[in-house]
Amino acid sequence: MGVVLRFARPDDIPEIERLLAAEWLPPMAINEFLDSFWVIESEGRVAGAAGIEVYDEAAVLRSVVVAPELRGTGEGDHLVRTGLEYAREHGAKRVYLFTMHAAPFFARYGFEPVTTDDFEAAVRNSWQYVGLTERPEILKQMIPMRLIVDQ
Ligand SMILES: CC(C)(COP(=O)(O)OP(=O)(O)OC[C@H]1O[C@@H](n2cnc3c(N)ncnc32)[C@H](O)[C@@H]1OP(=O)(O)O)[C@@H](O)C(=O)NCCC(=O)NCCS
Repeated sequence: MGVVLRFARPDDIPEIERLLAAEWLPPMAINEFLDSFWVIESEGRVAGAAGIEVYDEAAVLRSVVVAPELRGTGEGDHLVRTGLEYAREHGAKRVYLFTMHAAPFFARYGFEPVTTDDFEAAVRNSWQYVGLTERPEILKQMIPMRLIVDQ
């Protein structure tokens, strides 16, 4: 059985949560955004995930993760491109994210570091923005990034 990228299903959630928790990424609000969540399935197991949350003309890319044994094989790229395509198709003109260690990876797609002050109103109610801005000690370890989407 090969490696496939497909939409996430409710029964994937525990495995997605495990992948995220192993990387210290917040395993939260997956069910609420399952319609725009993807997984990489390898040998019948969930070995990667990513989600996008669209808020009017803005979106938040989140939970991008690939299992260590599959890294470097293009699956992270496939997940990011799928999420960005979805955001574009759903009218997002700007995409935001928070990352701790993967800023150089996201820079490949045109994401640039910004501050939380640069986050527009539409994404300020997102759970990640609210949660991080309420916890400055965690926020200071994060790099907020923004991509201006080519239409
Ligand atoms: C970041 C992550 C998703 C990348 O996944 P991946 O499957 O290894 O990435 P790919 O194999 O698709 O890499 C695509 C390209 O990006 C490059 N790349 C991968 N990780 C990179 C990094 N951390 N910094 C810079 N470039 C990176 C690869 O070398 C590859 O380049 P190439 O096309 O020139 O060969 C993966 O390392 C991961 O899950 N990290 C832990 C979780 C994390 O930090 N997620 C982001 C939080 S929002």
